[in-house]
Amino acid sequence: MADIVSAQDVVDVLKQVKYPGFDRDIVSFGLVKNIQAAKGNVVFNLAFSTQDESTRRQITLAAREAVEQLPGVNDIQIMGPPPGQPAGAQGPMAQQAGQSGKIELPGVKSIVAVASGKGGVGKSTVSVNLAVALADTGAQVGLLDADIYGPSIPTMMGVKDQPGVIGQKILPMISHDIKMMSIGFLIPEDQSVTWRGPMVHQAVQQLLRDVLWGELDYLLIDMPPGTGDAHLTLTQSVALTGGVIVTTPQDVALIDARRGVAMFQQVNVPILGIIENMSYFICPHCAERTEIFTTGGGKRASQDLGVPFLGEIPIDPAVCLAGDQGTPIVRKEPDSPQTQAFRAIADGLKQIL
Ligand SMILES: Nc1ncnc2c1ncn2[C@@H]1O[C@H](COP(=O)(O)OP(=O)(O)OP(=O)(O)O)[C@@H](O)[C@H]1O
Ligand SMILES: [Mg+2]
Repeated sequence: MADIVSAQDVVDVLKQVKYPGFDRDIVSFGLVKNIQAAKGNVVFNLAFSTQDESTRRQITLAAREAVEQLPGVNDIQIMGPPPGQPAGAQGPMAQQAGQSGKIELPGVKSIVAVASGKGGVGKSTVSVNLAVALADTGAQVGLLDADIYGPSIPTMMGVKDQPGVIGQKILPMISHDIKMMSIGFLIPEDQSVTWRGPMVHQAVQQLLRDVLWGELDYLLIDMPPGTGDAHLTLTQSVALTGGVIVTTPQDVALIDARRGVAMFQQVNVPILGIIENMSYFICPHCAERTEIFTTGGGKRASQDLGVPFLGEIPIDPAVCLAGDQGTPIVRKEPDSPQTQAFRAIADGLKQIL
């Protein structure tokens, strides 16, 4: 007689369990290994790469509750990481990491992830302009494009060439005084679209680990939209100094901004603050300020969430055009009100980093 509960049933039900703070489930993140189900007795491993006890407990409990719901289950044994790998250094995102399970970048003083729950709110625009504004203060700045499926940095920074290689290491590209790396420099535009989670993990790790970043005061990381593979990889493979959340003023974006904040908090990454982008429009003729969307949402959200508000950036076609042309507005129009907004935020960040 076939078993009442099959390993596939267990996989299916565990696919409903989300990794705390993330969009993705624990199966697709590669956490669940070695499932066995016989006569209602279920055994599997959870291949944690996080060291965080409360996250481990939370996932274990949720996995147990999920499997308990399957009719015919008698007993559930959830084991730790599979044997053969030291605790805290397994799973797709921990390969070749240092002893702490994290990639070490000894020359880099601060690593800041620029994220948002929602796509298209201006993370990449904010990343490139903050990078240039920070560099203008005399700092050494790097920019890592963690958007594997839709890299924007090559276009926004106006670079198309392929990077050089020294030994096993890739040389960062340099443009507008910023050292940068993006999957867009390494593979043709449409090739990463079919990549699955573990490949994304590897790619992000490689961009961090195999690039000669050298000495940097700040390494900004332009995150992809949402809270998926690249986010989990980064929050677990490198000691992030903090996360910045970009939002637009509309309620739909603010809901996602809260999710972004929750994601970082879940993995104990400090929130440096919220930036509201496309906040208002300054008329180029009369300099009058117009609130296009509802106003003040970013500030309110930061107050509600108890995280700093870093500032607002106006909406202006010149910002978009500058990005499309490969020269960030901070470099292209150094005295414009948009540039001043970016510089003010960069100064604020410098104070807290
Ligand atoms: N302040 C602004 N004023 C005008 N246009 C802007 C502004 N900020 C961003 N944009 C434009 O909005 C679009 C989306 O911005 P961007 O690509 O930076 O967002 P994103 O959050 O990185 O998107 P994705 O989630 O796809 O990575 C781009 O065309 C960009 O030029
Ligand atoms: Mg982007």
